[in-house]
Amino acid sequence: MSDTRKEIERRRTFAIISHPDAGKTTLTEKLLLYGGAIQLAGSVKGKATARHAVSDWMELEKQRGISITSSVMQFEYEGFCINILDTPGHQDFSEDTYRTLMAADSAVMVIDAAKGIEPQTRKLFKICAMRHIPIFTFINKLDREARSPYDLMEELETEFGIGTYPMNWPIGCGIDFKGVYDREKQQILAFTESHRGQNRIEPIACTLDETEKLDSLIGERLRRPLQDDIELLDGAGYEFDLDSVRNGQLSPVFFGSALNNFGVEPFLESFLQMTMPPMPRISGEDIVDPFDDHFSAFVFKIQANMNKAHRDRIAFMRICSGKFLRDKEYFHVQGGKGLRLAQPQQLMADDRSIIDEAYAGDIIGVFDPGIFSIGDTICEKGQEVRFEGIPTFAPEHFAAVERVDTMKRKQFEKGIEQIAQEGAIQIFHEPGMVMEEIVVGVVGVLQLEVLEYRLKTEYGVDIRRRDLPYDQIRWIASSDRDPRDLNLTSDTKWVQDFKGNNLLLFTAEWCVRWALDKNEGLQLEEFSRN
Ligand code: G4P
Repeated sequence: MSDTRKEIERRRTFAIISHPDAGKTTLTEKLLLYGGAIQLAGSVKGKATARHAVSDWMELEKQRGISITSSVMQFEYEGFCINILDTPGHQDFSEDTYRTLMAADSAVMVIDAAKGIEPQTRKLFKICAMRHIPIFTFINKLDREARSPYDLMEELETEFGIGTYPMNWPIGCGIDFKGVYDREKQQILAFTESHRGQNRIEPIACTLDETEKLDSLIGERLRRPLQDDIELLDGAGYEFDLDSVRNGQLSPVFFGSALNNFGVEPFLESFLQMTMPPMPRISGEDIVDPFDDHFSAFVFKIQANMNKAHRDRIAFMRICSGKFLRDKEYFHVQGGKGLRLAQPQQLMADDRSIIDEAYAGDIIGVFDPGIFSIGDTICEKGQEVRFEGIPTFAPEHFAAVERVDTMKRKQFEKGIEQIAQEGAIQIFHEPGMVMEEIVVGVVGVLQLEVLEYRLKTEYGVDIRRRDLPYDQIRWIASSDRDPRDLNLTSDTKWVQDFKGNNLLLFTAEWCVRWALDKNEGLQLEEFSRN
């Protein structure tokens, strides 16, 4: 096997998704700990310090008023080379969060056992489902009072329309939490107070008919329901099927507690066994094999202002095939030009290091003199690759924006255009209107503040911003429909994006339903592929 093939085969690239506070940061830190990527003296330093380490870079960006971005973390574990893509949450939630999922081969969904599915999990799940990538569920915080595991699984199945397969099953919860039972290995991973913060917990082999042993481990009161539950799951639950997992139709579910580092290592081990190396990607009619010798990649994110003085940008690309070499000349398909990728680097929180080579599955950041756009393909000269673009996802917050100083038209337009090109905002206008006032749409509300700040500091333009009451936008997919002829609620607004696509802005979900009900055959899309 060639060295390149070996390298690609050991790559695993995934995103961690969750609603804020479910435990994404905590789980990520524990995973990094296994890979030795961050050094912590046990849990002595505490989580605050650990979190500080991985999010320093983001804090820096925040101070600069720039959007908080997804960072990439790479670490080695038992021969695997793992790339974790962090998806920002809270108010820094932005379209970048969605786009990051386009670069991942699978997703880990962290759910708070007391809360179940929450709004942000729902949104992110939709994108994963659209791509049919495998989704692994980690149900967290079992050391606290939790909802019934059956309830949680049913919620996942009915809301998301996927099957679930509990890989392990919780034994009690909260102060009564005794551990989890590993169904395949038939062993108990026991949780006791003394395990808090420990890295490795030795599982105890114990089949369900070893009643005495079970009683001594978890007590009779919890032993009985455990036996019943597992019998029920074995009889009535979904069958385990690796193909369904890999197609994103069946989600393996793990119960644990990230904060106590409980159940994290078995999760990581199973996850690595079930996931695949980088998968083929589509380029027009063709499929690009990741093991192909030729390098190819696509840009999924552009980060402006890594150094404000130079107005520089970094383009993040996901390598889809072959091996990247630092000094080789590559081809930028959309620009139609050959180029060397300057300062290729891998990021680990605030630590950036220049790299000489990278492989399919890896994410690299390269210096962008302003030539790349989201979705662009980079490949070897003479190789006909053009990856499917990254969809534009529906923004959820809208504002009308105009410049205060009417003289500054050029700067205003340039600033808005560049920021839109980076994918931080989307811009729309009312058909027939000149570009005096534009409608800006963003996925996360913080982006509007970032826009205001950046226009002022980088382009010297002050703006007036009027927040608009819309929270839904849909692309009109039926090209034969003239928006003027549609029967719509009076508060629905027709706009166009700058590619001339027609869209509708709605103030509520029921207005969307009205549009669909009253206009037979009308097709509305939540994202645009053009
Ligand atoms: P996020 O990235 O998904 O937003 O969540 P994060 O990891 O920051 O965790 C949110 C809160 O939940 C944190 O508490 C964290 O300590 C806690 N947490 C995470 N995993 C577990 C778990 O398994 N059990 C319990 N009981 N708590 C957990 P915090 O009070 O907000 O932060 P901190 O004061 O601990 O730093």
